[in-house]
Amino acid sequence: MRRKVVAGNWKMNNDINATVDLISALKAGLKSSEPKSDVIICPPFTSLETAKELVKNSNIKLGAQNMHFEENGAFTGEISAAMLRSTGCEYVILGHSERRTIFQESDELINKKIKKALSSGLKPIFCIGETLEERESSITFDVITRQIQKGLEGISSLESIIIAYEPVWAIGTGKTASPAQAEEVHSFIRNLLTKMYGEKEAQSVIIQYGGSVKADNASELLNMPNIDGALVGGACLKADSFLAIINY
Ligand code: 13P
Repeated sequence: MRRKVVAGNWKMNNDINATVDLISALKAGLKSSEPKSDVIICPPFTSLETAKELVKNSNIKLGAQNMHFEENGAFTGEISAAMLRSTGCEYVILGHSERRTIFQESDELINKKIKKALSSGLKPIFCIGETLEERESSITFDVITRQIQKGLEGISSLESIIIAYEPVWAIGTGKTASPAQAEEVHSFIRNLLTKMYGEKEAQSVIIQYGGSVKADNASELLNMPNIDGALVGGACLKADSFLAIINY
């Protein structure tokens, strides 16, 4: 039985004051009972150190939203895996569609980042998903296959990896994939991973859904057999809605 994992991608939101407010409210909400899902928050880089102190002695785990694949050096504006580890990060989101589209990240670049994250002791939350145009051209499964095969090239185990299926047309649009639409892709992903890594690893890997997950649609999505959690954008910025998704 896979435990559900709900992660909040804060994107470019929340200064230090807002970080303190949001994490304090989350901690208060999580105190009363054992949460139904494991919880990860991914604040912007500037909030990680503050977040690290605030999540101590709580069941909230910390992740970042991006990193560079090099160890260190002349890469102005970039952040390394070791830097993320030193601010208490256990996870890092890689291959988010906003990185792919706005910042032109390729499958090959994402593959380098995943390898560096793993060798540095970080667990990647590896995002994949098709655009509306790709879905309407009926190439969703081809796109997913390419993203997974190239993104995971040379990676021998899924043990420390979370996959997040985020159809690009559902991100920030209020337009969620229906539970059946999402489940169809999740089950396709698990079958593909079974072929690549065998039954045992594919059955254990967490596959999150992301794209307009809200308090009122979380339970129908998370109750699907191959949906093991959610990667939440907008609705993770308010403690109430994020807590409702965690306890779907
Ligand atoms: P929304 O929940 O705002 O659609 O964002 C999803 C997302 O991109 C999470 O990474």
